Amino acid sequence: TVVVADTGDLDAIRQYQPQDCTTNPSLILKAAGLSGYAQALKEAQELGDVEAAIDQLTVRIGTELTRIVPGYVSTEVDARLSFDTDAMIAKARHLIELYAAQGVGKDRILIKLATTWEGVEAARVLEAEGIRCNMTLVFSLEQAVAAAQAGAYLISPFVGRITDWYKKSTGTAEYATDEDPGVQSVRTIYRHFKTHGYPTVVMGASFRSAAQVKALAGCDRLTVSPALLGELAGDTGTLERVLNDQPATEKEAAMTEADF
Ligand code: E4P
Repeated sequence: TVVVADTGDLDAIRQYQPQDCTTNPSLILKAAGLSGYAQALKEAQELGDVEAAIDQLTVRIGTELTRIVPGYVSTEVDARLSFDTDAMIAKARHLIELYAAQGVGKDRILIKLATTWEGVEAARVLEAEGIRCNMTLVFSLEQAVAAAQAGAYLISPFVGRITDWYKKSTGTAEYATDEDPGVQSVRTIYRHFKTHGYPTVVMGASFRSAAQVKALAGCDRLTVSPALLGELAGDTGTLERVLNDQPATEKEAAMTEADF
């Protein structure tokens, strides 16, 4: 399992030395030291062109991130474009051009797109141009398969948001790890991809607990917030085990083999 940092926080990345990192607009704003969207908009308005300013900020932080992670930096296309294939393609190409102007090649960037039908169609076009995509907001096997069949380089099936929804709608306070619906969703997708030989990388995302991360050790990649990376690292050697696919106990080993 490759551990990926779900952050744009340069200090956290220096500390945990992940291979890749994933960002989204709120993580970029946080990394830029802006307290919220409203403040960012105010600053962007002062610059004249809000959209251009946000793109530039995204690429500025993304460029810094490419200097400290050896692998990919995921850069998200604004979710407001998620139902417009042409707009998603145009924004992805523009971000890649801005990166190129900074000397960052498209081989270092994953364009993060929502896995709507329009997003899947955008990925099909972008991948054919050599722009690799990270398909995010994956909540189902059907979305995952559609993304893989479009040739997406990577998918991000979510854990926490599924579990949160189940907890809220069923009134369940906590799930045992093996019954956690978010964990189960990622396992189902991973197993299906390996059974059918899809080359698309499966990266579990949206974690709420270290237990959920550990339950998915063995998955291709896992993107984890700095807070949870800290928790995992604090649990003697656990981060090493996650990185090296080495379950600590026979129970974990059996679980990993059975599930993946
Ligand atoms: C990662 O790529 C996602 O943006 C992230 O894991 C989403 O997590 P959330 O459900 O905490 O927003």
